[in-house]
Amino acid sequence: MANKNLQNTSRIISLATFFFFFLILAANADKNSDNFSRKLSPKKLGLKREKLSHLHFYFHDIVSGKNSTAVRVAEAQTTNTSATLFGLITIMDDPLTVRPEPSSKRVGSAQGMYASASQSGTGLLMAFNFVFTEGKYNGSTLSILGRNPVFSPLREMPIVGGSGIFRFARGYVQARTVNVDFKTGDAVVDYNVYALHY
Ligand SMILES: *[C@@H]1O[C@H](CO)[C@@H](O)[C@H](O)[C@H]1NC(C)=O
Ligand SMILES: *[C@@H]1O[C@H](CO)[C@@H](O)[C@H](O)[C@H]1NC(C)=O
Ligand SMILES: *[C@@H]1O[C@H](CO)[C@@H](O)[C@H](O)[C@H]1NC(C)=O
Ligand SMILES: *[C@@H]1O[C@H](CO)[C@@H](O)[C@H](O)[C@H]1NC(C)=O
Repeated sequence: MANKNLQNTSRIISLATFFFFFLILAANADKNSDNFSRKLSPKKLGLKREKLSHLHFYFHDIVSGKNSTAVRVAEAQTTNTSATLFGLITIMDDPLTVRPEPSSKRVGSAQGMYASASQSGTGLLMAFNFVFTEGKYNGSTLSILGRNPVFSPLREMPIVGGSGIFRFARGYVQARTVNVDFKTGDAVVDYNVYALHY
């Protein structure tokens, strides 16, 4: 009886030892094949000195007519009776031009959405990309996420990132309404963009 117990114990010990070494081997294999991160020098990505760019253009939000560039896509039951249109979501692909006139030279678009997210005073949640089409900026984007109290003379929203020329971008934009047609809701907004990027 005592002998049998001893035999069982030694069997358990050798099994445990086997699993212990197996785990060590597995952990080492993991280290070499399953790592998914590494340190990288910014130079390897061609990142040199961070610079600050200032861009200036006009944004045309056309909500009326056949050629509207901003469309109402969702709302709450209570949106139409809310003084601030709380719950309304609009998707836009608004032209950006160098002068306030819609016919002036186009430099890109503002693509994304805005939502009425304030119950006291008009405050939009803006989530959109500036998509540039001009010169060296062609194909590059800046991503904006922020609060836009549209009836304030000056609004500020953060730049949360970018692509192309604007990789690693951060900064802010300032928006000033130039003109609103209160009958149609169409608006022209002056945008100053201050972006740090490489
Ligand atoms: C995983 O580690 C090896 C060796 O340390 C390294 O050469 C490889 O680049 C790493 N994999 C990734 C995805 O960084
Ligand atoms: C809409 O765009 C078309 C084509 O660009 C143009 O011919 C038409 O006049 C525009 N309509 C309005 C209401 O602006
Ligand atoms: C709210 O008003 C808009 C525009 O007048 C209309 O298209 C929409 O159907 C209305 N929504 C509700 C829920 O009544
Ligand atoms: C911007 O890039 C697109 C696609 O690469 C190209 O078709 C277009 O002609 C370019 N526009 C300008 C103004 O360079």
